[in-house]
Amino acid sequence: MGSSSSRTSSSGLRYREATSADVADMERCRALDETAGPADARMVAYLDGQHHPRQALAPRTAFVALDGAAVAGYIAGHATTRYGCAGEVQYLYVAPQYRRAGVAGRLLQCLAQWFEGQGIRRVCVNADVDSAGAVPFYVARGASALNQYWYVWDDISSVREAKATMTLDRPDDAPTAFQSAWNAHDMTALAALFHHDATFVNRFGHYVRGVDAIVRLHEPIHETIYRDSTLENELIDVTSIATDAAVTHFWSRLRIGHAHPAGPHEVDTLILAVLTRRDDRWRIQALENVTLTNPRTGKAVLRDQSDKQ
Ligand SMILES: CC(C)(COP(=O)(O)OP(=O)(O)OC[C@H]1O[C@@H](n2cnc3c(N)ncnc32)[C@H](O)[C@@H]1OP(=O)(O)O)[C@@H](O)C(=O)NCCC(=O)NCCS
Repeated sequence: MGSSSSRTSSSGLRYREATSADVADMERCRALDETAGPADARMVAYLDGQHHPRQALAPRTAFVALDGAAVAGYIAGHATTRYGCAGEVQYLYVAPQYRRAGVAGRLLQCLAQWFEGQGIRRVCVNADVDSAGAVPFYVARGASALNQYWYVWDDISSVREAKATMTLDRPDDAPTAFQSAWNAHDMTALAALFHHDATFVNRFGHYVRGVDAIVRLHEPIHETIYRDSTLENELIDVTSIATDAAVTHFWSRLRIGHAHPAGPHEVDTLILAVLTRRDDRWRIQALENVTLTNPRTGKAVLRDQSDKQ
């Protein structure tokens, strides 16, 4: 296998919906993989609605994982009536150097979100039994065998829920869960931390209400200036104010990378998060982030320098 020995970091990848204009780049990402062979020559026609796999309906989409401008992996799927399902995963491929780092998992989550938006729950996939990864991947992501070649999710939203349920077992988990969603640049994981009507005030005093608005606030920066940033959070305290409500504070250090026009630098903030438990699930109800600044100059300072100014 051409480049399987040199692994590429998968943490800085971006994910976005693709069209037939991306197919040339999607084909290119298989070029070094001697075992894979070329991509399906009907991919452009499929995405343009001119090639229909058996029992396919018109709605369809694709997503790509991007490393810079290069495609690292892709997935595509469509509405169907096959096997009593409403959706089918049509293509899935991750270039060898990006494998076993969760890229296919993220692509499947993107597609699952699209299926959910189409009202599609039961989804099937024709697993390539000659591929070392295909069946283990689908099974690891919760699909069960329909027969030797076909696997099915009764409810595809389970591939998104799996991650969310791991995140906030108690209010003390908030700093770590927020940090891991940020560092994965995973907006699905980020959204899962907040109640649907949560409020968020970022460190520039930008106030938004509702989980969709919180994602809209973060998604563009995670695709651009913060795509290679990392957060390191440290719990300060948790105060229970009722059985189902707690106030937490945590320090947060944002390490900004080369993607930012100002180049690599660090910012320290203090986060106040109020968590509530509803339907037996802890989530953030309100979060406010304050940048540590020198009150005289207004300049941002790091925590270990703030008492020396
Ligand atoms: C199958 C494929 C898409 C998986 O992509 P990936 O990005 O490596 O998958 P992920 O990292 O998200 O894997 C998630 C889990 O799936 C399982 N898995 C994935 N590949 C596996 C393999 N080769 N062997 C065993 N388990 C595997 C593991 O449980 C893995 O979790 P872990 O790494 O923590 O153990 C990739 O190997 C591939 O493109 N193969 C060639 C094309 C292909 O088979 N496509 C599917 C056609 S139906």
